[in-house]
Amino acid sequence: MSKPFALELEHVSKHFSGLHAADDINIQVEEGSIYGIIGPNGAGKTTIFNMITGIYTPTSGTIRFFGQDITGKEPHEIAKLGIARTFQNIRLFQDMTVYSNVLSAYQQNLTYGFWEGILHLPGFRKQEKEAEENCLALLKRVGLLELKDLQAGKLPYGQQRRLEIVRAIATGARLILLDEPAAGMNEEESAQLSEIIKNIRKDFDLTVVVIDHHMDVIMDVCETISAINFGKMLVTGSAEEVQNDQDVIDAYLGRAEEDA
Ligand SMILES: Nc1ncnc2c1ncn2[C@@H]1O[C@H](COP(=O)(O)OP(=O)(O)OP(=O)(O)O)[C@@H](O)[C@H]1O
Ligand SMILES: [Mg+2]
Repeated sequence: MSKPFALELEHVSKHFSGLHAADDINIQVEEGSIYGIIGPNGAGKTTIFNMITGIYTPTSGTIRFFGQDITGKEPHEIAKLGIARTFQNIRLFQDMTVYSNVLSAYQQNLTYGFWEGILHLPGFRKQEKEAEENCLALLKRVGLLELKDLQAGKLPYGQQRRLEIVRAIATGARLILLDEPAAGMNEEESAQLSEIIKNIRKDFDLTVVVIDHHMDVIMDVCETISAINFGKMLVTGSAEEVQNDQDVIDAYLGRAEEDA
């Protein structure tokens, strides 16, 4: 039998009253790959992530994670299965330190019992030590170790986005979904981000799906890209195929004219 896709969306739609926010979306993401979703504002990109993570239940269609049907499951069940995301608007514990932000994400998946935790029994201490070591190692890998004691809210914007990605990894997820990770970043920060995304895939055996409506990061890091517009898929292919697709060019040029 062939290997299942890490993520598969089959004829997935989400309708809000009359609005077709996502309309017959078909996506197949191979394990270990980096997959991009592009499209103009309001195209339906975040709606797709909201369906994968259980925030929205699809109106129709099926979503599978490593072959398992996860359509309509609760967000906490889906997180537990190993899907983590970042948000278009950064969501961190702004008042907590960088380290505590990572530790709290890591602890989502720890297994020690309630009493062990309360009474600080040996099993708890061992896991606590391991948690600390793993979180510090993770921070080191992404170049945030020196900033571990800083308040997250005080970090420059680009590093807050990076910390959000670290939190997603710390949960132990196998699939991470990044919603516009380059938003608000300058050129240098987005170039660094591209490197981080490529490295984490290798280092942590991850499959990654990235949304952006800026082409540069997506074109640099993704093997396969789907372009969507008005909830519908326009094309799926390599960076070059997508960039040269007439429907994609029209979708972007159309918006540029509207904005002018
Ligand atoms: N809960 C909701 N109720 C009603 N309409 C919604 C809801 N969520 C999204 N929409 C609509 O669905 C469409 C797609 O929205 P979505 O946020 O998925 O777009 P997007 O591609 O992520 O856009 P952006 O690039 O601006 O983030 C928009 O018209 C939006 O207003
Ligand atoms: Mg969005």
